[in-house]
Amino acid sequence: MSEQFPQRFAGQVALITGAAQGIGLGIARRLGAEGARVVLLDRSAGQLQTAAQTLAAQGIAQHTLSVDVTLRDAVEAAIGSVARQWSRIDVLVTAAGITGKTNLKTHEVDPGDFDRVLDVNLRGMFFCIRAVLPHMLAAGYGRIVNIASISGKDGNAGMLAYSTSKAAVIGMTKVVGKEYAGTGITCNAVAPAVVRTALVDAMPPEQVRYMTDKIPMGRTGEIEEVAAVVAFAASREAGFTTGFCFDASGGRAVY
Ligand SMILES: NC(=O)c1ccc[n+]([C@@H]2O[C@H](COP(=O)([O-])OP(=O)(O)OC[C@H]3O[C@@H](n4cnc5c(N)ncnc54)[C@H](O)[C@@H]3O)[C@@H](O)[C@H]2O)c1
Repeated sequence: MSEQFPQRFAGQVALITGAAQGIGLGIARRLGAEGARVVLLDRSAGQLQTAAQTLAAQGIAQHTLSVDVTLRDAVEAAIGSVARQWSRIDVLVTAAGITGKTNLKTHEVDPGDFDRVLDVNLRGMFFCIRAVLPHMLAAGYGRIVNIASISGKDGNAGMLAYSTSKAAVIGMTKVVGKEYAGTGITCNAVAPAVVRTALVDAMPPEQVRYMTDKIPMGRTGEIEEVAAVVAFAASREAGFTTGFCFDASGGRAVY
């Protein structure tokens, strides 16, 4: 597998959250195929094990961390353990995310569900970024790629909490990008439209149709297509781009 790709991450350590399945796992596979030692972080210990076995079978060096990103102390301990073990964290990709309940109007949204979505998608991302930055600063190099969503730019009706959280992810990306510009660390986001994963399969079909109908290419995205964009943003090559949100929306994004 590694022969198909350039080895842009040879010798690097890449930590990917939400990596037990779906887009996060696809990103881990791509970065691993390009030579990275990948650290898969996810709350789902069982799925992590299966994911690790799949990557190992493909010859990808991997390590797993069973952590809930909403638990700040656990996130800091896990990231500290990675830094101690390999003395470097070159790449952080934050893909852990949930939609919460969807296909609801704003007055129907349960405030507890709203909080939970922001807790995972936004605070969890913040905890991970906050914890890796000191290691990247010490190394004078780092690549942070946050998985946002087209819903953060457009606002998907029926998805208040999710769209709000992803708009905030784009805002956070811009701030981190600016604050660390000039340190060797970049922070960018990638905003996919619909990609068929467990996250989408768990949503009401009307909500999925609403989102898919808006894609000019008339199809959903592939995990590999998102992973390819992330791999570029996470690579040394992307040295003059920070605070940006890359598109992976089949033509849906207008900015
Ligand atoms: N699939 C899409 O259409 C789509 C579109 C745009 C953006 N995204 C974003 O891409 C990312 C990955 O989504 P996916 O479609 O692969 O979903 P998925 O449900 O297949 O994978 C999400 C992963 O995140 C993990 N996770 C959830 N909460 C966590 C927590 N508190 N701590 C640690 N891990 C946690 C899950 O266990 C799961 O393995 C998410 O941020 C999602 O919002 C997905």
